[in-house]
Amino acid sequence: MSTSFPSNFTWGAAAASYQIEGAWQADGKGESVWDMLAHQKGKVWEGHTGDVACDHYNRYKDDVKLMTEVGLQAYRLSVSWPRVIPNGTGKINEAGLGFYDRLIDELLAADIDPWVTLFHWDYPTELFNRGGWLNPESPQWFAEYTAVIVDRLSDRVSNWITLNEPQCFIGLGHLHGDHAPGLKLGMREVLKAGHNSLIAHGLAVQTIRARAKKTPSIGWAPVGCINYPASDKPEDIEAAYKAMDGVWSDNCWNNRWWGDAPVLGHYPEQGLQAYAKHLPKFKDSDFDTIQQPLDFYGCNIYHGSETQAGPDGKPELTEKEVGGPRTHFLWERSDDALYWGTKYLSERYKLPVVITENGLTMPDWVSLDGRVHDTHRIDFLQRYLLGLERAIKDGVDVRGYFQWSIMDNFEWAEGYKHRFGLTHVDYNTQVRTLKDSAYWYRDVIKSNGATL
Ligand code: NOJ
Repeated sequence: MSTSFPSNFTWGAAAASYQIEGAWQADGKGESVWDMLAHQKGKVWEGHTGDVACDHYNRYKDDVKLMTEVGLQAYRLSVSWPRVIPNGTGKINEAGLGFYDRLIDELLAADIDPWVTLFHWDYPTELFNRGGWLNPESPQWFAEYTAVIVDRLSDRVSNWITLNEPQCFIGLGHLHGDHAPGLKLGMREVLKAGHNSLIAHGLAVQTIRARAKKTPSIGWAPVGCINYPASDKPEDIEAAYKAMDGVWSDNCWNNRWWGDAPVLGHYPEQGLQAYAKHLPKFKDSDFDTIQQPLDFYGCNIYHGSETQAGPDGKPELTEKEVGGPRTHFLWERSDDALYWGTKYLSERYKLPVVITENGLTMPDWVSLDGRVHDTHRIDFLQRYLLGLERAIKDGVDVRGYFQWSIMDNFEWAEGYKHRFGLTHVDYNTQVRTLKDSAYWYRDVIKSNGATL
């Protein structure tokens, strides 16, 4: 059996604090904007909240055992800012910090490398009340919080991710209002909030480098907005690349508005034009902070859009196949997304790429035989991973892959409607059942991809 995955490739799975921890008021934790939003009527599907979620806060030891059964080499977790600093700045909640201490120790004892995401959306409500990401002090608040985490965990943690999907917490949270904090601001304010989050990213990278006790490896995890070519024709490939380059007015869903400044030190020209009528004044010196050397470009990729060259050479999306394969979220299955996504990002940003999330939802349940037969997940992951392997064969420097998610969890505004996990969670009993895909993934990990 042969494999193209390098011998030091990292195979992992991911989750995030608000989506699994529960214990929303335990041991002095402060409120996050997701606690705030989920407690408002009509904001989350069927009124679900993350109050209990998978109760991972209390069951983390059992959950690490599950990870061991899957054979994970790495686990991407996120820290809940208000669990550690209830008001967002100032007094540290020792008990909250202690939870992450214990979790990291448990992971290391199981030989699982912790990859720590500093911000996966559960922003302290206290800071939101002071203006949140719109407050010019917000990057400094994030740096202060980062210092607390790094001081405490960096003797054992070396892999760091600053922000998760700024396109979402800014776009869905501040423009569309579907995610916390539920704002529907004008584009100028949205761009301001986004800019502050990018400064926060830069300050966090500086803070990690300055304070880490172990040499850190630092990246971030934006959404990959992927277009893949409808054919091998050079014009279709060019069209797909142009689409992935694109920044259009009044939306946040693109690669380069978010990726260019942290890596290249400036916003893309096309974006400056697209957003021209909304642009706030950005200080030149901000970009010296935002642009920091990164060790990898993390990216969350779930799907892509098939793209071809239109008659004028401009990119256009192909017509959707009637009855084509879609996940429970109705996202199209896009077998080539990891191939084209990693190729594009590594060519553009010249950094090693890590897939920080990839997965799908299906309406999984426990069968009469007591097992969860999620054959669709196995087939989906296999197709995507074969694409990733092809990218590596073609010379793309991909260092790791994190499946989303180690367990079913709270899917934001969709509540518990969607199951993304390798592990089935019964939310009434908190019983966990490894799905067939977990055993399949275990073999993939063990063989370093040879069983794909
Ligand atoms: C990206 C987000 O980072 C994660 O929190 C979410 O659950 C998955 N996408 C699936 O939508």
